[in-house]
Amino acid sequence: MTINLAQYLEHNTDAHMAVLVSAIAEVSQAISAAVHKGALGGVLGSAGSENVQGETQKKLDIIANDMILEALAATGVVAGMASEELDDCSPVPGHSDRPFLVLFDPLDGSSNIDVNVSIGTIFSILPNPDVGEITNESFLQPGTEQLAAGYVVYGPQTSLVLTFGKGVVAFTLDREAGEYIQTSESMEIPDDTKEFAINMSNQRHWYEPVQRYISELLEGKTGARGKDFNMRWIASMVADVHRVLTRGGIFMYPKDLRDPNKPGKLRLMYEANPMSMLVEQAGGKSFDATQRILDIQPTDLHQRCAVMLGSANEVQRVSGYHTS
Ligand code: AHG
Ligand code: MN
Ligand code: MN
Ligand code: MN
Repeated sequence: MTINLAQYLEHNTDAHMAVLVSAIAEVSQAISAAVHKGALGGVLGSAGSENVQGETQKKLDIIANDMILEALAATGVVAGMASEELDDCSPVPGHSDRPFLVLFDPLDGSSNIDVNVSIGTIFSILPNPDVGEITNESFLQPGTEQLAAGYVVYGPQTSLVLTFGKGVVAFTLDREAGEYIQTSESMEIPDDTKEFAINMSNQRHWYEPVQRYISELLEGKTGARGKDFNMRWIASMVADVHRVLTRGGIFMYPKDLRDPNKPGKLRLMYEANPMSMLVEQAGGKSFDATQRILDIQPTDLHQRCAVMLGSANEVQRVSGYHTS
């Protein structure tokens, strides 16, 4: 018997969390509609502005960001928000006592917006530490503190993938009915895989452990790994991680020699942490090279980290190459 998101939330979360996740699901439907209009909706192309990451913002980065800020402030259960597209956090005025803090990447995979390739929204839900007014420091909690995490991938289907710390569930948007219907009760990542995801154009910049790990994969049946591997790189983390959650694999964005002071490209608080909670809840592992990403104690809202996540035995192997 299929159930919809509202029924799932009623039986698996408390009332406040159900209000929040319902609001995220609802605004994701509006973002999905804008994404699917594309050029017809005037949402493609650059906004001509730069964000705190030093990236040129796409129109849809800003459209999605503003829609989520408005929708979550109106829930009555969010004390403050932080976004890839905002320099600092956005407290909900006069409501610093509300139960949740939400961090999000409103539009992940922006470089794919104009070429009609899957993109998404990633979110992370933290408890309000209840120490008075909401500041950037209120959000600097390790990933293990997350109450929930998830993403929406805007692809051939619009899918919502969620965890509350009791496994990973997935929903598919039924556009005609205007609601998400549960389509997976438990997404699970196999311990082994023959599929890897990394941006190979950075190969000359990798440190030795990643060089060694990838070159062994590329030797095929005759080489160290004794089997042929396949490669995928969509350049939307949300789509690459969705594939890993669906059929296994290892996804990597390592730190590299281009900037020894930059631990990696991906952002800890609203990309690596939510995806790491999902991957671990599905039986996979997620390391920054040598340590569990969820254990990292954040020091900055927009700090970056290296990411190696997916099938447990592969993540363990490449992490071992960093510590041997
Ligand atoms: P965002 O579009 O939110 O800035 O994130 C893009 C990230 C991530 O989605 C993806 O895995 C990675 O950038 C791709 O990086 P490259 O373009 O360097 O491959
Ligand atoms: Mn970006
Ligand atoms: Mn992103
Ligand atoms: Mn983004």
